[in-house]
Amino acid sequence: MFSLRIVNHPILTFPQQEKVSFTLNGQDMEGVAGEPIAAALHAADVKVLSHSHSAHRPRGIFCAIGNCSSCLMTVDGIPNVRVCVEPLRAGMAVETQVGKGKIL
Ligand code: FES
Repeated sequence: MFSLRIVNHPILTFPQQEKVSFTLNGQDMEGVAGEPIAAALHAADVKVLSHSHSAHRPRGIFCAIGNCSSCLMTVDGIPNVRVCVEPLRAGMAVETQVGKGKIL
C-alpha cells in the first residue's frame, strides 16, 4: 500500500505502533491507532477531505489543530467531525463530506 508516512529519520525513532483498518468512502484504508484521522489520510495521499457548501471547492487540512472547519468529514454517520483532532480507531467509516453534511 502506498504511504507518505516517514519510516526512517536521521535523528528520530518511531516506536512500533498498532495498525488499524478503517474505510474511506467504502474503500479499505490502514492507519495507526490513535493518530488523527487526517494524518492517516494524508499518509495515504488523500488530500481532499470535504467540499465547501456553496461552491463545492475541495477542502483539506488547514490549521491541523481543530480551530477551523476545513477538515470536516462524516465519521460513523456523524457529520462535521474535525478529523485533524479526531483519533483513529479500528473499524471507523470515514466519508468525504459535501457542504453541511447529512445525518444518516
Ligand atoms: S484543519 Fe482546521 S479544524 Fe481541522
